[in-house]
Amino acid sequence: MNDTPRILMCPPDYYGIQYEINPWMNRSRPAAHAEACRQWEQLRRILADTGATIELLEPVPGLPDLVFTANAAMIYQQTAYLSRFRHPERQGEEPINARWFSEHGYRVERLPEGYYFEGAGDALFCGDTLYAGYRIRTDIRSHQYISRKTGRRVISLELVDPYYYHLDTCFCPLNHEAAVYYPAAFDSYGQRALRENIPLLVEVQPEEARHFACNAVVVGRRVVTNTGCARLHQELRRLGFEPVETPLSEFVKAGGSAKCLTLRLDGEDAAGWRREAKAADSVPAGLDSPSDTPHFDVPAADGNL
Ligand code: ARG
Repeated sequence: MNDTPRILMCPPDYYGIQYEINPWMNRSRPAAHAEACRQWEQLRRILADTGATIELLEPVPGLPDLVFTANAAMIYQQTAYLSRFRHPERQGEEPINARWFSEHGYRVERLPEGYYFEGAGDALFCGDTLYAGYRIRTDIRSHQYISRKTGRRVISLELVDPYYYHLDTCFCPLNHEAAVYYPAAFDSYGQRALRENIPLLVEVQPEEARHFACNAVVVGRRVVTNTGCARLHQELRRLGFEPVETPLSEFVKAGGSAKCLTLRLDGEDAAGWRREAKAADSVPAGLDSPSDTPHFDVPAADGNL
């Protein structure tokens, strides 16, 4: 198995605020096109500098949110579980995504008609568990469907704040035992589920959550976010990560930031199944290697839900 991280991005040629499907979007606050292109290029450069290969999805006129490739699908091994968007405004992206994944060697899985599922925006592995957001975009039936198909444990988390409408706006696994989260985006059950199952949780403050601190791209020790997340960066440095900031204000206007603009094609660093795949290839497991990601001595989570 090739170990180079692979990330899917889509150039912002046709990006803009053309409709309003989340509280961040306001057609009277358009994105500055040239600035959006500069910000996207810089993000791409930072990610390429981590050693990741950046693959490109061709932009399509009339699909301004196609830039948010996190919503194309959820990747599990060689399968792409395609998104089925809740809003008709984004449903035109589905055939484009389907074509890209099948042309690039993925097995493409579609959820049943009438299910809503918004890909890695709402479904993130941390260790062996898939954490999945529901209610605002993805519906909970989709979680059950994916759990049955993959045989993986899914913890369903209700998203209660319309500003944090996708799970990746308020939760970000750092590795198999650590994650960043914004507690107020979850109900008390969700907060408890996260606390009891993830040994190390870094809490983001409201002002930084609004700057999309949780919407981070993790590649090994690097953690890339929007600007305005200084406290989180300080905490990440203390834990042995290397936070990097880059301005993404033009994408925040659409309700997205660094993570939303990317899809990890080989599985997130935090995904337990990635380590299994590596072990099967008898490549040393990444998490045992000190150069890959920081390791913490944390007490084992106790208690069951
Ligand atoms: N305007 C897009 C939407 O509302 C933004 C998507 C952001 N993506 C994400 N993974 N959070 O669907």
